[in-house]
Amino acid sequence: MVWTVADIPDQGGRLALVTGATSGLGLETARALLRRGATVLLGCRDARRADAARAELLADGDPPGTLAVLPLDLADLGSVAAAARTLADDHGRLDLLINNAGVMALPRQLTRDGFERQFGTNHLGHLALTLLLLPLLRGRSGARVVTVTSGAQYFGRMAFDDLQGERRYDRWRAYGQSKLANVMMALELQRRLAAEGSPLLSLAAHPGVARTNLQVASAAASGNWLEPRLVGLLAPLAQSAAAGALPQLYAATAPAARGGGHYAPDGLGGLRGWPTEAPPAAAALDDDQCRRLWTCSLGLLRQAGLTDLSGPEPAPETPGADGSRA
Ligand SMILES: NC(=O)c1ccc[n+]([C@@H]2O[C@H](COP(=O)([O-])OP(=O)(O)OC[C@H]3O[C@@H](n4cnc5c(N)ncnc54)[C@H](OP(=O)(O)O)[C@@H]3O)[C@@H](O)[C@H]2O)c1
Repeated sequence: MVWTVADIPDQGGRLALVTGATSGLGLETARALLRRGATVLLGCRDARRADAARAELLADGDPPGTLAVLPLDLADLGSVAAAARTLADDHGRLDLLINNAGVMALPRQLTRDGFERQFGTNHLGHLALTLLLLPLLRGRSGARVVTVTSGAQYFGRMAFDDLQGERRYDRWRAYGQSKLANVMMALELQRRLAAEGSPLLSLAAHPGVARTNLQVASAAASGNWLEPRLVGLLAPLAQSAAAGALPQLYAATAPAARGGGHYAPDGLGGLRGWPTEAPPAAAALDDDQCRRLWTCSLGLLRQAGLTDLSGPEPAPETPGADGSRA
């Protein structure tokens, strides 16, 4: 399937929030939605970089859509809650939430709320944002939540007994776990929305390997002199950020994309190519693991102060022929 930005349906009248829109896939996602007429909120933690992104997007010419910056630091739940309140006060609605921002393979650091930074930013911050914005998405025709995962989901494992890597930390394991959590939550949210008959859709997408600031920032933080050089050498093998953004744009806008779908490049190993539906990691299809992660994550968010957080109820368990669970 060859699906390009030219296939994005008209987004006039739609309001989209793209997290992590200062660079890479988020910037390209914002650009494409803006060109198709959406009002795009750039969810960014750094005002200077957000202004630079805004200027770059507007330098393309007079776009049919409009742009605004929404201050949002996913590593600070107070900031996440404030962003959700601002969005509610200023707009009172949302059509597209693209949970795109991310950090990769950092040495162990903590978020403002004391969570391991990759789990806290990539997973918990986005889960909190999604649940806080659900009331604005519900009831909007064609509304979607797209969560950006990674091929790293396939080697990810949920260490339920050590989610914050307190006992044992490996920066790549922590990244894989956070990206597995992204796809598990996207699919669990869809199961819960479907169980209550909601038309709101939750989908997941991964970009393959795309040339962005992600690898550069990760290598710079590694403290290893060789990593930045390797990133520079391997960069020409990766696809462009614009190509990497296509699966998430497909999930966000293609009429054929389905709730619970997981979209990725169609090339060898899902590393590059045109968007297509792809099987997610097995854990994301495991109802028990997904429910367990949902419950643990909500518990952590409540402990961190988001006490009135709630979300759709779990889908009912399917009984087997003998009355046991299927
Ligand atoms: N590029 C790839 O090959 C690849 C592969 C698989 C998955 N992904 C996923 O794609 C997504 C986008 O990454 P990218 O490749 O476009 O990387 P990128 O160019 O580094 O962009 C990451 C974005 O996330 C933002 N961000 C980081 N921490 C944040 C926080 N605490 N609060 C708010 N925003 C924050 C960054 O903002 P600042 O400018 O402030 O740092 C930046 O805008 C990530 O979820 C990543 O895991 C990428």
